[in-house]
Amino acid sequence: MESETESLAEGAEAKIHLATFLGLPAVRKVRLRKAYRHEALDARLRSERIRTEARLLREARRAGLRTPVIYDLDLSRETLTLERLEGTPLTEILRDPSGSPERRQEVVRHLGRALGRLHAASISHGDLTGSNVLWMGTDVAFLDLSLGSRTPGLEEFGIDLHLVEEDLRTLCADAEALYEIFQAAYSEANPRDAAAIRERAQEIKGRVRYA
Ligand SMILES: Nc1ncnc2c1ncn2[C@@H]1O[C@H](COP(=O)(O)OP(=O)(O)O)[C@@H](O)[C@H]1O
Ligand SMILES: [Mg+2]
Repeated sequence: MESETESLAEGAEAKIHLATFLGLPAVRKVRLRKAYRHEALDARLRSERIRTEARLLREARRAGLRTPVIYDLDLSRETLTLERLEGTPLTEILRDPSGSPERRQEVVRHLGRALGRLHAASISHGDLTGSNVLWMGTDVAFLDLSLGSRTPGLEEFGIDLHLVEEDLRTLCADAEALYEIFQAAYSEANPRDAAAIRERAQEIKGRVRYA
């Protein structure tokens, strides 16, 4: 039913394998054990995160955002089988020196709009870096929601925006202009709370800088 091929990525928390599921292109995300964590605590964290990730991927999708479809959740093997999305990680697009400014602007505009909609649906991402967002050619898709929340407050929302700003600063020379475009699109998609959330993101930035 399910066959495994090569390994696609190994992050801090999980290993991603290319796979197929009922003949469809899939990825299998296997949560890694952490030897430095107490075994019982580690098992609880793995189980919590995989369940959070599955729930938030589904709920974000239900709110109209692009996320991979969940094909299978195997709690006994701590494995999530997901639709394989053919997209390009935002990191790659943003740091590509031969990429045009217009393309970067289009991508961050879509990121802002999508994040605004995610937040308006009361979901925070929790780990919003350029490797956890794919550019699908016409829109962005969110991956890796295991640190997200379904009951976020200003702080969680603000952290999402702050991580985008940090990423842009690391990757692009035109970060400032791009972050403005991102924020404008975000505000349009989440008009009710955008002002307070943007203010919190600025506050977080100050805290991080002078900590
Ligand atoms: N559904 C998917 N389709 C295509 N690529 C994926 C998918 N899920 C993960 N990836 C790739 O694997 C990488 C790591 O996956 P991710 O879910 O972010 O795991 P981690 O928790 O280890 O960061 C992503 O940055 C992306 O490049
Ligand atoms: Mg990731």
